[in-house]
Amino acid sequence: MTKKSGEKTVEERMIVGIDLGTSRSAISASNGKKKWVDSYVGWPKDFIARKVVGKPILFGREALEHRLSLDLYRPLKNGVIKEGTARDEEAVKELIHHLITLVQTKGEAEKVRAVVGVPAESFKVNKVAIKKAVADFAESLLVVSEPFAVAYGVNALDNAMVIDIGAGTVDFCIMHGTVPSEDDQRTVLTAGDYIDQQLFNFLEERYPHSDFNMNMIRRFKEEFSFIGEPERAIKVDIPVDGRPTKHDITEEMRRACESILPAIVESTLELIAKFDPEYQDIIRQNIILAGGGSQIRGLDEYLEGVLKEYGPAKVQVVDDPLYSGCDGALALAQDMPEDYWTEV
Ligand SMILES: Nc1ncnc2c1ncn2[C@@H]1O[C@H](COP(=O)(O)OP(=O)(O)OP(=O)(O)O)[C@@H](O)[C@H]1O
Ligand SMILES: [Mg+2]
Repeated sequence: MTKKSGEKTVEERMIVGIDLGTSRSAISASNGKKKWVDSYVGWPKDFIARKVVGKPILFGREALEHRLSLDLYRPLKNGVIKEGTARDEEAVKELIHHLITLVQTKGEAEKVRAVVGVPAESFKVNKVAIKKAVADFAESLLVVSEPFAVAYGVNALDNAMVIDIGAGTVDFCIMHGTVPSEDDQRTVLTAGDYIDQQLFNFLEERYPHSDFNMNMIRRFKEEFSFIGEPERAIKVDIPVDGRPTKHDITEEMRRACESILPAIVESTLELIAKFDPEYQDIIRQNIILAGGGSQIRGLDEYLEGVLKEYGPAKVQVVDDPLYSGCDGALALAQDMPEDYWTEV
């Protein structure tokens, strides 16, 4: 087939890696640009709201700030596109479109090739939904599990395990020199959002007269999260009867962060134990933590300590938890043989 003039070849076309997350979504493009947004999409509630916000649709932080004027959606729940409501599907589509426009150079209206990373076990459910969501902007698509994308990006392709600790899910993936199968992967639903909920409950119990919301709770966590021994007492300002008041939240923070450990330890041990016995030692020494939750202070040491009871162990944290997923997806997209792509 001859190439029409103006038609771009595969190499010229923009390639993007997208990490579609419950709380944050990030994109990394072959033109070198990278962007991320909080995974919020909002439409003005009525014509007054439309006038106030001045736009037909808002994303990320901006949407959150105007939430009182908006029908606000966080369209991914536990890493899966929420089913049933057309608006959630629409929101995912708008979010993906928004991410692509953030990295596209002006005037460049071409469709892109996209690799989209999603949580390991929701993989099958999401594949169809994502295909629908990107159909208008991408001409070819590949959906991969998020921890696989991370593993690819940090070149941990053989005898390694990636643990991606996100907001909705913790995703595990063992790499052994091939594309991982379902058996090599696990998803656990107690992740960052669960910590927030726990912290909220603990603080509500201890300080029943103080005024806080989930947003503040998440901010506290992202600033002070830790497990094990605290470096110093954690004190935050929370209003009581309208007056900012210092609250000690050290113990509650520790308990909330530690609440996700049992499931993580169990899945890690289980995945290693059912792997080829001759390779278990090597995998245990090549564990990589990714995702926002990998920032919890003391988490890597704790896991390493637990694993050392079984033999030599080493746990590392990726350098850039925000972009490691989409960077990996982009790298994968650039290396992917033609026959792996799905036309959309
Ligand atoms: N320093 C920190 N300590 C603890 N948790 C943090 C920190 N920074 C970010 N997080 C949490 O990490 C989570 C976001 O991580 P990430 O962006 O990897 O998730 P996601 O991709 O949106 O979610 P998922 O992968 O479950 O769909 C949120 O729960 C956020 O509060
Ligand atoms: Mg994620």
